[in-house]
Amino acid sequence: MSDTVTAFRFAMQSCVEEGVDGVVLLGDISNSGDDWSLETGVRLAARTGLPVWVVSGNHDCFERVEALREAVRRVGARNVRLVAPEGAMVEGARAAGVSVTMDDAWVSRADGKPDVSWWGDEPVVWLTHYPLISFEETTREAGLLYGDELADREEVLRSLVERPAPTVVVSGHVHLRMDSVAGPVLQLACAALVEPPFEVTFLDVEQGDGRAMVRVENVALVPSLTVRTPSFAPPKREWVFEAGEWRSGS
Ligand SMILES: [Fe+2]
Repeated sequence: MSDTVTAFRFAMQSCVEEGVDGVVLLGDISNSGDDWSLETGVRLAARTGLPVWVVSGNHDCFERVEALREAVRRVGARNVRLVAPEGAMVEGARAAGVSVTMDDAWVSRADGKPDVSWWGDEPVVWLTHYPLISFEETTREAGLLYGDELADREEVLRSLVERPAPTVVVSGHVHLRMDSVAGPVLQLACAALVEPPFEVTFLDVEQGDGRAMVRVENVALVPSLTVRTPSFAPPKREWVFEAGEWRSGS
C-alpha cells in the first residue's frame, strides 16, 4: 500500500513539473474501494492545484458503487471532479467520460452514456476505465491477462464512431499500452502506475486547419533494468486526424 501511495505521489509531482493543463485519473484509485484509499488519492491529486478529472474503476466500486463520488464530495476540493458525459472544454478540446456501476456486470452509469448532441465539432477526449475498442485477442495471443469488459462497450463505442468529429478514448484497467482505431475514434490504452512499468501518460491534443493532432508520451517513474513489461505501442508517438481518419504520425 505504501508503495502505491509513493508511486501516486511521484505521478502527481511529475504532472506538476511537466506543467500540464490538467490531470486525469482513470479509475482503480483504490484496490478494494475503501474510503481511506479513495480519499488519499483524491486528496493527493487535489494538492497539485491543477484541474483533476476522475472516473471510477471496478476496484473503486467493490464496497459501494458511489464510494468514489462520496470521497470526492468529502474531500471537497474545488479542483477535483468526477467526469461527466457532457464534459468540459480544456484548451480547445472537450474532456468528457464515464464512471462505471454494477448491474450483473460492469456497465456505464445510467447518466454516463455519451450524448453526442451535446458536443460540437471539437475533438473530444473520452475518459473511461474500461477500453471501448477491445484488444482482448491481441492480449490473449500474447499470453497476457485481459480481464472483463464493459458490458455496454459496443453501444458506447457505436455512439462515438457515428460522430464524424474525432474522439480520443483514454482507458486504463488492462495495464497495457496499446493504441487502437475504429473510424474517427482513437483509443489510447494506458499502462499501469502501480506495477511495472510504473508509468504516467502525457497527452497533448491540438486542433486547427481541419485536423487534430495527438501526441502521446509515456514516462516511467522508476526506470527498471530488471523488469521488461510487454507493450503494444512505443512510449512516444503521434496521431493525426485528417479527412475523416486517423493515421500514425510516427
Ligand atoms: Fe480495473
